[in-house]
Amino acid sequence: MHKNDELIGNVSAIGSNMEGIVRINEFICFVPYALLGEKIKFKVLKITKNIAFCKLLEVLTPAEERVRPVCRVFTKCGGCQLQHVKYKEQLKLKTNLVSDCFKKIAGISVKVSPCFKSDAEYEYRNKLQLPIRSVGGEPKIGFFAESSHRIVETDDCPIQQSWTKNVISVFKEFINATGISCYDESSFQGLLRHVVVRNVDKALIIVVVINGTSLYKSEVLISLLAKRFLKFSLYVNENLSTSNVILGEKNTLLFGDGVYEDEEFSIKYPVTPMSFMQVNSAVKRKLYNDVIKTINADENTTVIDAYSGAGLMTAMLAKNAKKAIGIEIVSEAVDAANKLAVKNSLSHKITNYCAPCEDKLPEIISEIRAEKGNVAVVLDPPRKGCDKRVLQALNKALPNKIVYVSCSPQTLARDLGILTGSLVYENNELKRCETPNGNYVIEKVQPYDMFPQTKHVETLVLLTRK
Ligand SMILES: C[S@@+](CC[C@H](N)C(=O)[O-])C[C@H]1O[C@@H](n2cnc3c(N)ncnc32)[C@H](O)[C@@H]1O
Repeated sequence: MHKNDELIGNVSAIGSNMEGIVRINEFICFVPYALLGEKIKFKVLKITKNIAFCKLLEVLTPAEERVRPVCRVFTKCGGCQLQHVKYKEQLKLKTNLVSDCFKKIAGISVKVSPCFKSDAEYEYRNKLQLPIRSVGGEPKIGFFAESSHRIVETDDCPIQQSWTKNVISVFKEFINATGISCYDESSFQGLLRHVVVRNVDKALIIVVVINGTSLYKSEVLISLLAKRFLKFSLYVNENLSTSNVILGEKNTLLFGDGVYEDEEFSIKYPVTPMSFMQVNSAVKRKLYNDVIKTINADENTTVIDAYSGAGLMTAMLAKNAKKAIGIEIVSEAVDAANKLAVKNSLSHKITNYCAPCEDKLPEIISEIRAEKGNVAVVLDPPRKGCDKRVLQALNKALPNKIVYVSCSPQTLARDLGILTGSLVYENNELKRCETPNGNYVIEKVQPYDMFPQTKHVETLVLLTRK
């Protein structure tokens, strides 16, 4: 097989990025946007050892599950991977992905419940992250192409809520009217970098990320926004770094109230530019509800909410528990969590620590275990999963119950392997153990479709002590 070869083959499996897999002689060919059972024509773009990365040229025999994508820039933009698949099939693919990751990465064979569906298949995202760049001196607004920082220009996005179109057109108008410079990634020059927007209770929190310290002609932007949106706040965020991190640390409020309040399970919570928020409000509600039901804390239970963000789940857990302890690394989120506890008259039951979980959890968990009563732990880490020290502390202190919420089936599988004993460290390297003898058993695995049309899936796992 050679680069640029055009080949015909049958898709015999689906990969972890939801690509079709075609086997030709000793080669495994990954072909994005091809479906199981399809006969396809494809082109080889790159070969490493026996793996070929390919491009779909033609579907010769389409699968029954194939549908016409709704978005004009689908396959060019990196946001969605599954618009060409019927929604029911997307759910099956995600359930299988979780179960395959468990088997392949950790040797865990366990029943995975069918992926919980999102009622909104499109227009579900309550958060927008819009890059703005200068390319060859021309301003470009859109979304990044897959695994790249090349902007794919667009006026709208079908998985975003309907206000997105107006935000994009306001920023185009603002750039045209003022001639404000846009960020050039090759020279690190230019002011406008990103626009990040959250929708909270019918108000928008709009954050303009700039490569500088003040937003040029901000009054023009405010007046353009005021023509389109009834209730909004405008922040400027300073990000002078040359890295790919979207937000810098300093936010300045230019217009509006700045903070809006939302309510979930009768807990009132403020949303600020830095607070973490799940992007699909309806599925988030179901997920959080299931976390609370699964933990099932009573007045004898202390719950540790590790990676607690702005403390919404901590407060929900505290309601029925003896007490709840949040651990979160972002200080602004911890401040919000403390305010939330006061506002909801729960501060006597909640302690929020601003610290890395890998330091704080090992420090506090044994003390809490030594107290009377049950201890339950919620883990909701970012994509990279839990630090080794967090899992070691859990394996030592042995809380009665662990509920693990994850947006990465791969790191979830690894961490579950460590907690159930199917993966063990040997000379600092993780190895498969054929006769697992860990401290925990997996009682329940429930995926949720927080992100329809994309390859991503959120999963809840309940572990109990053997
Ligand atoms: C997936 S979010 C979960 C947020 C929260 N559970 C919620 O539902 O709103 C992960 C959180 O972990 C925080 N985080 C990342 N690394 C951390 C670490 N090493 N220690 C503590 N918190 C961390 C992030 O700032 C983020 O708020």
